[in-house]
Amino acid sequence: MTSPIRLAINGASGRMGRVLLDLARGDARFALRAAVVGAGAEPVGAPVGGVEAPGALRYSAGWAEAPPLDVVVDFSTPAGLAAALDHCESHGIALVAGTTGLDAALEQRLQRAAGRIAVLRSANFSLGVAVLTRLLRQAAAALPGWDLEILEAHHNRKEDAPSGTALALGRAAAAARGTTLEAEAVYAREGRPGARRAGSIGFAAVRGGDIVGEHTALLAGPGERLELTHRATDRAIFARGALAAAAWLAGRAAGAYTLDDVLMADA
Ligand SMILES: NC(=O)c1ccc[n+]([C@@H]2O[C@H](COP(=O)([O-])OP(=O)(O)OC[C@H]3O[C@@H](n4cnc5c(N)ncnc54)[C@H](OP(=O)(O)O)[C@@H]3O)[C@@H](O)[C@H]2O)c1
Repeated sequence: MTSPIRLAINGASGRMGRVLLDLARGDARFALRAAVVGAGAEPVGAPVGGVEAPGALRYSAGWAEAPPLDVVVDFSTPAGLAAALDHCESHGIALVAGTTGLDAALEQRLQRAAGRIAVLRSANFSLGVAVLTRLLRQAAAALPGWDLEILEAHHNRKEDAPSGTALALGRAAAAARGTTLEAEAVYAREGRPGARRAGSIGFAAVRGGDIVGEHTALLAGPGERLELTHRATDRAIFARGALAAAAWLAGRAAGAYTLDDVLMADA
């Protein structure tokens, strides 16, 4: 694309949304055209950036007044993502979706939408996690008899558990072992759950303070163990990855894309 990409941020008042707004406003690849927040959210109608001026971009609740767009970047809530998806589908706009904790119905809607618009989803937009996923696929396949546990830690306001990233890691490892997460996942243990079932993939979630996001894939064999860990210390990594994905996705044909597609293009 030659002219700046017309961009909307959905969930613009959230932790991720605020970082995305800061980065996008200083990024010459983009023309920021909409900052969408939940209905009744505090900043509705206020100018983005805080400076009153005629024609200033303002936070909006919903999509009714949205201008023409090339791409929407969504880090909001499942309901917020569903509303953005409606708008993108009916106007042929590409969608980068970062929201996690979706139910099966919304997962299916996103898959169907990829028949009509370009949709790029990732449970984790960091480069380090993309590489961790590749390393885990290798390790899970090379050590098939070892017990695999996925541990994650996040801030105390996170609503879903295990994290979307932990589930994506589990899915990647299960596929590398020729099975599925549905068949192997163990999400909770308490009381007397009995001995660990061979081949299962266990999850543990820690919540506290302002932890941005930590994931460890622990592979335990007889007499040794391997731990692959990623620690995010700054949410800007997710925002940078999502904006790189948006720049790559704008103008593409309909389809379901992943962060790997963007990384391969850069490789
Ligand atoms: N894929 C990744 O790399 C990645 C990285 C980090 C986070 N995430 C995910 O991204 C999502 C947001 O994370 P966060 O930490 O930024 O959460 P957050 O701080 O709670 O922000 C979510 C924002 O969405 C707003 N919202 C609610 N309903 C909305 C609607 N209908 N339309 C538009 N906006 C709406 C909320 O506004 P109100 O507070 O006013 O309701 C809130 O400001 C979560 O699902 C999180 O797990 C993904």
